[in-house]
Amino acid sequence: MRPASEIGAAVIGSGFIGTVHVEALRRIGVPVRGILGSSADRAAHRARELGVARGYGSLAELLADPDVEIVHVTSPNHLHHPQVREILEAGRHVVCEKPLALTADESADLVRLAASSGRVNAVNFNIRFYPLNQHARELVAAGELGQVRLVTGRYFQDWLLLETDWNWRLEPDRGGALRAVGDIGSHWLDLLMFITGQRITSVMADLATFIPIRHQPAGPVETFSTDRSTDTVERQIATEDTATILLRFEDGARGSVAISQLSPGRKNSLQYEVDGSSAAAFWDSEQPDQMWIGHRDRPNEILIRNPALMGPAGQAASALPGGHVEGFADTFRALFRAIYADVGAGGPSDRPDYPTFADGHDEMLVNDAVAASARIGRWTDVVREPANPAMVAAGEDSR
Ligand SMILES: NC(=O)c1ccc[n+]([C@@H]2O[C@H](COP(=O)([O-])OP(=O)(O)OC[C@H]3O[C@@H](n4cnc5c(N)ncnc54)[C@H](O)[C@@H]3O)[C@@H](O)[C@H]2O)c1
Repeated sequence: MRPASEIGAAVIGSGFIGTVHVEALRRIGVPVRGILGSSADRAAHRARELGVARGYGSLAELLADPDVEIVHVTSPNHLHHPQVREILEAGRHVVCEKPLALTADESADLVRLAASSGRVNAVNFNIRFYPLNQHARELVAAGELGQVRLVTGRYFQDWLLLETDWNWRLEPDRGGALRAVGDIGSHWLDLLMFITGQRITSVMADLATFIPIRHQPAGPVETFSTDRSTDTVERQIATEDTATILLRFEDGARGSVAISQLSPGRKNSLQYEVDGSSAAAFWDSEQPDQMWIGHRDRPNEILIRNPALMGPAGQAASALPGGHVEGFADTFRALFRAIYADVGAGGPSDRPDYPTFADGHDEMLVNDAVAASARIGRWTDVVREPANPAMVAAGEDSR
């Protein structure tokens, strides 16, 4: 197996999350050969800032670089499908940001293409790779919580609270028909299917757009930017600011989640509680090194992340000893280590322990059910076509 230091990578996009990818790749010893941006000038500028050798002028130029074996796609959502297609067709491995595509038809296409390519294909559901979330999955799988009954939580942010807040995510043709659900709800839905080992089978969703008109700055805006432009254009908003969703899981568990991009003071709070028949687990991404474990007959526990107190998956995702807080950026390191083990081995393993395109597509199918349920005002089943029986048979769905 080849070490990560011998595997050349390139990153598409050098905005908020592209920068996190570059930094995490460096931490695991992967040489980042170059980056691609929205223009040749921007790529060259960002390459200089980040100390990366090349700023490519186009995807064709990137794919002509023989030193690049794997490409990380961190561009806006509408570019994921065409870019990932080209990357796989050029025989490269690929890590794509969530959501995998704009529509489930597109994500199904990528699942098929990835399976026939034999290349490593990963979706960046990095939240799975907080060590305590890996631990929670191990707790559930080992029966430590008993039978999972109730799965509840939220994903709240406030960065789109004001009508003057703007980002490409607000434009359906760039972000997708679902916004809060597609952008952050996708993480929660994937995470809780991962932790419980149960797929979501049915949803009852209510979507709300509290700010129907926003003021788009005339120039470009960085994600999470707090700059305010005075030169703005009024835009009608069709996508949801908030979602409240009831959930049914395949082994009978019930759940609910609230998703919001306009909850004042909540910067990035993903919370969940999994209530089993004998114990419960609660976690909040703003306090990521702690997990509350609830009991009926003895005092509750607070587990401070500690490799010595977790199972093998929790240990593998930890880089630091207990008490040395690990956070958002560390999840990328842990996830990339798992992905690059497969790249080093030449292709996907039988049961990848990272989220694959199959997982990314499955989450898109849940989103489709959410959109349909909100439209018709009724419980709606998640329709799972056997999009890729080959991958299912090969166990490449990491749930
Ligand atoms: N996993 C996570 O926690 C997480 C967090 C944030 C964003 N994301 C995902 O990452 C992606 C990017 O989000 P962001 O917040 O970094 O956005 P951003 O706007 O900060 O950055 C987008 C980048 O894409 C570049 N870009 C635009 N058009 C391009 C093109 N044609 N070719 C190449 N590059 C192009 C831009 O120059 C910019 O560098 C989205 O899909 C988003 O859902 C994931």
